[in-house]
Amino acid sequence: MGHRCSFWGPRGRNRGVAKPWCVALILAALYNRRSTSAVTSSLALALLGLILLTICRLPPALLAALSLIGSIAMGLLANRRRVQKRESGMEDFSGKVAFITGGGSGAGLGQAKRFSAAGCRVVIADIRQDHLDQAVDALRKLKAQVHAIALDVTDRAAFARAADETERVFGPVELLFNTAGVSIFGPLERATYDDYDWMMGVNFGGVVNGMQTFVPRMIAYGRGGHIVNTASLGAFHAASVAGIYSASKFAVHGITLAMRDALAKHNIGVSCLCPANIRTNIAESIRTRPAHFSHSGFQVDDEEMAALREIYSHGMEPEELAGHVLEAVKKNQFYIIPYPEARKGLELGFKAVLDALPPEDSDREGQAKRHQAMLKYRQARATMDERKYALKAKG
Ligand code: NAI
Repeated sequence: MGHRCSFWGPRGRNRGVAKPWCVALILAALYNRRSTSAVTSSLALALLGLILLTICRLPPALLAALSLIGSIAMGLLANRRRVQKRESGMEDFSGKVAFITGGGSGAGLGQAKRFSAAGCRVVIADIRQDHLDQAVDALRKLKAQVHAIALDVTDRAAFARAADETERVFGPVELLFNTAGVSIFGPLERATYDDYDWMMGVNFGGVVNGMQTFVPRMIAYGRGGHIVNTASLGAFHAASVAGIYSASKFAVHGITLAMRDALAKHNIGVSCLCPANIRTNIAESIRTRPAHFSHSGFQVDDEEMAALREIYSHGMEPEELAGHVLEAVKKNQFYIIPYPEARKGLELGFKAVLDALPPEDSDREGQAKRHQAMLKYRQARATMDERKYALKAKG
């Protein structure tokens, strides 16, 4: 009755089954290769199967089928766990490609250092060649895998070329940092159209161009990822002297919130970095202002540059800030505002907004009518989106 077995194949009734069974298990282990625990489980199941085959009288075909099913189930479970982890943030940065605008200096360079130390291959893109050269030197000393691209973030065609170059050199981008930005200050009522066009173009337009370039590629690549857009604490407050800068950062904040909603279903996390003061070269922004936007209402002279340099010299170190960014990406945290001193101002700002609302229990009838109308619209919207864009509505 018993089967006499050799390693390569049982003799007798089920002669020859163990060989395909071993092959099937190797295939299952290969299928599970992205999870160490699933590979271990597959091999453990294979070993258990062999032992059972040798000492029990179960038919090898049954054992082979059971082992194979068990092994694939392990893989599916591990895969599900991995997807769940990705949905709640990114854990493993090794080998991932990060594209960083403004990566030649300040906050962007800090991100390049921090994320390359975590295992990323980084592309730094910047309008200033001197910044790129210095940054590449600094990053190579840290043994970072880095590639530099000269890029003006307002140039959409150049952005597409930069994306192609990145894919040729390192492969598809999974982490996008829209960090490049400029600032110029002065009484708002003196601002010119050129002041608006330059600052909105770089600060907001640059972020838009970054997302327009990379979001379709990230979705097509299908591996999820993360986008960090740099706004500012100025995305919550505005005053005359920083009026255009704040407006550009309010816009970054808004589109970043909306993009988070849009990309969740693609497993792409989105964060909004809102720094207060960073020790960077932003006081030199004027140097990259293009000639076609040179008509300014503000006078940026040496005195002003010195005053700005003085404030920023007391700012947070870019690498320290990037450390907070890294932690936020791991947790898929939307707001990154690692400045405790920001609390008072934000509380006052939000209180002013909430104070403008009527009491919660007022105008009950109007509230119910508007609520119903909104629900109806949302349902209709979801149906339309599914039909027109094949988008599945969220829960
Ligand atoms: P930074 O001047 O040290 O670095 C910005 C980099 O962006 C520079 O290398 C610059 O050449 C590059 N850049 C400027 N215009 C560009 C363009 N059109 N295309 C490509 N690159 C361009 O300044 P920082 O502070 O590191 O700025 C990074 C971001 O942080 C900006 O978005 C800024 O608004 C934001 N931020 C900075 C704060 C600070 O205190 N420094 C506070 C809040 C926000």
